[in-house]
Amino acid sequence: MDHFLYRDGQLHAEDVALADIAAAVGTPFYCYSSATLTRHYHLFTEALSPLPHLVCFAVKSLSNLAVLRLLGSLGAGMDVVSGGEYRRARAAGVPGERIVFSGVGKTREEMRLALTGGIRQFNVESEPELRALSAVATSLGLTAPITIRVNPDVDARTHAKIATGKKENKFGIPIARAPEVYAEAARLPGVDVVGIDVHIGSQLTELEPFEQAYLKVADLTRALRAEGHDIRRLDLGGGLGIPYARSNSAPPLPLDYGALIKRTVGDLGCEIEIEPGRLISGNAGVLVSRVIYVKNGEDRDFLILDAAMNDLVRPSMYDAHHDIVPVTEPVPAGPVQPYDVVGPVCETGDTFAKARDLPMLAEGDLVAFRSAGAYGAVMASEYNSRPLVPEILVNKDHFAVIRRRPTFDEMLERDSIPEWL
Ligand code: LLP
Repeated sequence: MDHFLYRDGQLHAEDVALADIAAAVGTPFYCYSSATLTRHYHLFTEALSPLPHLVCFAVKSLSNLAVLRLLGSLGAGMDVVSGGEYRRARAAGVPGERIVFSGVGKTREEMRLALTGGIRQFNVESEPELRALSAVATSLGLTAPITIRVNPDVDARTHAKIATGKKENKFGIPIARAPEVYAEAARLPGVDVVGIDVHIGSQLTELEPFEQAYLKVADLTRALRAEGHDIRRLDLGGGLGIPYARSNSAPPLPLDYGALIKRTVGDLGCEIEIEPGRLISGNAGVLVSRVIYVKNGEDRDFLILDAAMNDLVRPSMYDAHHDIVPVTEPVPAGPVQPYDVVGPVCETGDTFAKARDLPMLAEGDLVAFRSAGAYGAVMASEYNSRPLVPEILVNKDHFAVIRRRPTFDEMLERDSIPEWL
């Protein structure tokens, strides 16, 4: 459930009409609902109770400081994958002891940043990284708390570009080699092994792959404990999918996911961490755009919007489906017609949807892309020198601009022309 509903003929974010925001800030813009973010975070904490747990929001899915502040103030931890994300989490007021650092290519500089600034744990992904981290921590006179990410060789049955738990993927160490790598970690002076980490992919629409992976982690926990490792924390990653199309069958609920966690690893006495991104932020955001032109092609009609692939890349990058709805409520069961919904960027790939049935739309009308909160604004670029679109956060009957649209002058100022030109 989200908080983007029609009321008095207009699509609202909570109690604010999206058309009012469009009038105030222009289009396109991203709009997030505080109530939806809050509700989705709580679904996970409730699903994991009474196990000791920490829900670490995957910052990569939506990294605006205001969103991190909101979730952090509810008690959320953060899963970061770069020095930039670490800085964001800290700037939003999240204490280091609630931040986990994931990613296959952490640099020594990023390690130093997190070690000196405070960190709950590093999720180490390879032996070279393990040795580097130990050396960096030792040089600072510190010890780095770590888990090691294992690759369980499980098929997440999701889009190939976002599956991470198969042996051919770059992530983690092969689970069969874990005893060897944990033994090396135990010998290193700069790291303290606290647990195991696993993350098999994103937008999973079935629980089965999670179950396979978590059962392997449970076995590994017992095996490592038998060898004397104090495994006290399990980081089970993120990845629970969301319904992108209202018409599709719904993916599993956080409550069922929580029950699965309890069933597979709940009796080990470990503290549980999860790293959901999309399920918290995805349906908490929409991208609002205006129709620039309706162009009647030879065999189809194009709806040309002022949003483009640089603002929301998921359709061109993953062939992802996003529901597109008019901001003015259409007549129930009224006529629809197929449109190819496109942006102004000079690539055929700048297509949001093909032959999408929509109510009749005209120049100037507003539309909203649903489920655009996760991997929307964060993946935007300035391709075609289009400014990054603003982000808006709604809370009940008021809204705030939480990232403004840059001016063209600001965009140009970042370039410099050398004096010899
Ligand atoms: N933890 C780790 C280590 C991850 O790599 C990811 C996502 C997450 C947690 C959060 O996964 P989530 O709960 O959001 O599924 N850009 C793609 C998604 C990439 C996901 C990358 N890793 C998309 O737009 O679908």
